[in-house]
Amino acid sequence: LLKQNERESLFIVLNFAKTYFAELLTNHDEGQSIGLSYFRERGFTTPTIQAFELGYSLNSWDGLLQEAERRGYSRDLLEKAGLILNKTDDGGSKRDRVFDRFRGRVMFPIHNVSGRVIAFGARILVNDKNQPKYLNSPETEVYHKSAVLYGIYQAKQTIRQEDVCYLTEGYTDVISLHQAGIKNVVASSGTSLTIEQIRLIGRFTQNVTILYDGDAAGIKAALRGLDMVLEEGLNVSIVTFPDGEDPDSYVRRVGAEAFKAYIKSHTSDFIRFKTDVLLRDAGDNPFKRAEVIGEVVSSIIRIPDALQRQVFFRTTAAQLRVDEQTLISEGNRLMRKQQ
Ligand code: UTP
Ligand code: MN
Ligand code: MN
Ligand code: MN
Ligand code: MN
Repeated sequence: LLKQNERESLFIVLNFAKTYFAELLTNHDEGQSIGLSYFRERGFTTPTIQAFELGYSLNSWDGLLQEAERRGYSRDLLEKAGLILNKTDDGGSKRDRVFDRFRGRVMFPIHNVSGRVIAFGARILVNDKNQPKYLNSPETEVYHKSAVLYGIYQAKQTIRQEDVCYLTEGYTDVISLHQAGIKNVVASSGTSLTIEQIRLIGRFTQNVTILYDGDAAGIKAALRGLDMVLEEGLNVSIVTFPDGEDPDSYVRRVGAEAFKAYIKSHTSDFIRFKTDVLLRDAGDNPFKRAEVIGEVVSSIIRIPDALQRQVFFRTTAAQLRVDEQTLISEGNRLMRKQQ
């Protein structure tokens, strides 16, 4: 019961912080001239800002702390919520210094499936090598990063309706696609995809389409992600973007309709995606080309359903023009090796 009360208190103080940041964004001079104009430059409209409850944190040491204490929230609770930091000042005085974690950043509240705020992502306004671009809440009693998907609350209904979930890397990918009318979209938020995140998607659909950034890191993460999705028994497709683009930059450049058309024409099944990526690296080397086939087989054997595996062996054999029986024996060999 105590734990339950503590969780409830955390939800309440996080909701207060969300409202505080949102009001600064729309009603405060600094919030408007810095935060709101930043979002406007990124093309976010007012309904979008409201749907994601975006905000702004003042460039001051303790703006949130002061307002929270004025309203009776304890420092202990604020610290447990990840909203303030408590550092002992070793500069001689040994006094505790208590200050806001998020300062001078645009704020992205992170909601759980039922829409309660559990954490924040906070973006710096001008990229700076000496500071992280996004600062995120620490793990707390209500925020377990590995189990959360950004945007799931705003996306869940449409994921069910469309029976597919678009999985992106970042906060702004989710927001821009939502604004473009593609609402069945979530982000793994930089962390490498986890089993818990895939199971969360699995509550709403069996179909995942990965829309990671079009750079080497995004492709690598997609290769790893697709194996995990397959292992959880979900279906996976992949859309790749031109190098240097992510879903947010791409939809802003080409517009909503062209973006939807791009998705339609550039969705690959995992076999085609994997062979395309790996064959590009293999060049003309016949040994490396043969290894690609083994790599595809190693993905197929992750699929728990035997009938589905059989179908994929058949498609792969046709796509790669190799003998189906050879693929199946290679699959059996790999599966035995794993046991
Ligand atoms: P990206 O570097 O692709 O950022 O990281 P982005 O989402 O495109 O953001 P913009 O367009 O530059 O604003 C993808 C995700 O990784 C996490 C964030 O969730 C981000 O959205 N990330 C990235 C962090 O948590 N910290 C960082 O310093 C960078
Ligand atoms: Mn817990
Ligand atoms: Mn990236
Ligand atoms: Mn981006
Ligand atoms: Mn990105």
